[in-house]
Amino acid sequence: MQTVALQSTKKQVSKTIELDITPLFRKMGIRKHAKIICNKHTYPLNLADLKNEWIYFAIKGFQKLKAEKQKFKTIAIIGTGSGIDAIAANELFHPETLVITDIHQQALKIASVNFLNNLGSHKPKEFLALKGNLCDLLIQQKIKADLIYANLPNIPFQGKDILEDIYTSTFFEEWEQQTVPAVFREHLLELQYQFLKNAKKALAPKGKILVSVGTRVPEKTLVKLFEKTGLRHSTLVTGLKLQSQADEVLSGYAQAERKFGVRFKFYKYSDQKRSITATQALKLHQQGVPIGHTLRLIITERVN
Ligand SMILES: C[S@@+](CC[C@H](N)C(=O)[O-])C[C@H]1O[C@@H](n2cnc3c(N)ncnc32)[C@H](O)[C@@H]1O
Repeated sequence: MQTVALQSTKKQVSKTIELDITPLFRKMGIRKHAKIICNKHTYPLNLADLKNEWIYFAIKGFQKLKAEKQKFKTIAIIGTGSGIDAIAANELFHPETLVITDIHQQALKIASVNFLNNLGSHKPKEFLALKGNLCDLLIQQKIKADLIYANLPNIPFQGKDILEDIYTSTFFEEWEQQTVPAVFREHLLELQYQFLKNAKKALAPKGKILVSVGTRVPEKTLVKLFEKTGLRHSTLVTGLKLQSQADEVLSGYAQAERKFGVRFKFYKYSDQKRSITATQALKLHQQGVPIGHTLRLIITERVN
């Protein structure tokens, strides 16, 4: 196997903890023992409550594609975090080339270590770890992927040093490269919009983009997102999960409601029938009420 771009060892990564993710794989029907390392830069995982983890839904999406006997020679995981999604995709699809990317160097280093430490017998011929924005480096290096997967943040970052503080639920607006229609900016779908436009340029002719989306926006806005990016879409998995990083995320959505006069949909986790706004959800969260939101794993193909 050829590995390119990042050579990393456990030593280089400071203040890491080790996590046995075998229970996650077992729950998802993947027969594999796996241990990863993580730190403050990698997306957190709560093994005690897997059904409220994004990765649980991501792997469900992978499993559906596998059940449909879909095959992918080149897979790219955009914003991999700790790399669990890459380990699962490799295990399920045995691609010839697997590419991971992240905007965060530290996360990418850890993801590389985690991926290489958990290869088992399914070694891709080529493994690339590319640090950069969305699919920019795939496009630059003319890599065409058959499957591109991403679960990206929606809240614009407001601190000083994103690469120190970056957690994983925020993104940096100044890195924007294209004009985003107001409807998507106001509904906090701007990174999703940029990603879909950008990922199309890194797709093989019949390639697919699999995207995890928190469906807190009106249905017509979501449909418009795919129409405007020239993608045919269908839903693979739906679910409701607890809001992760609730302080930061609910504040971000409540702020957008004030700023743009839009409304988002959240739920009291104990009452999943009646939606509430982000502003109401933030207030309830501050009183200790668990808040949830719906999500979908959406598969898309180029229309044009
Ligand atoms: C919500 S986490 C998802 C982690 C993992 N893929 C999962 O689903 O569990 C988002 C990840 O995307 C990365 N990220 C944020 N903005 C990005 C960008 N513009 N380009 C590439 N990666 C980005 C973050 O550093 C973070 O690791």
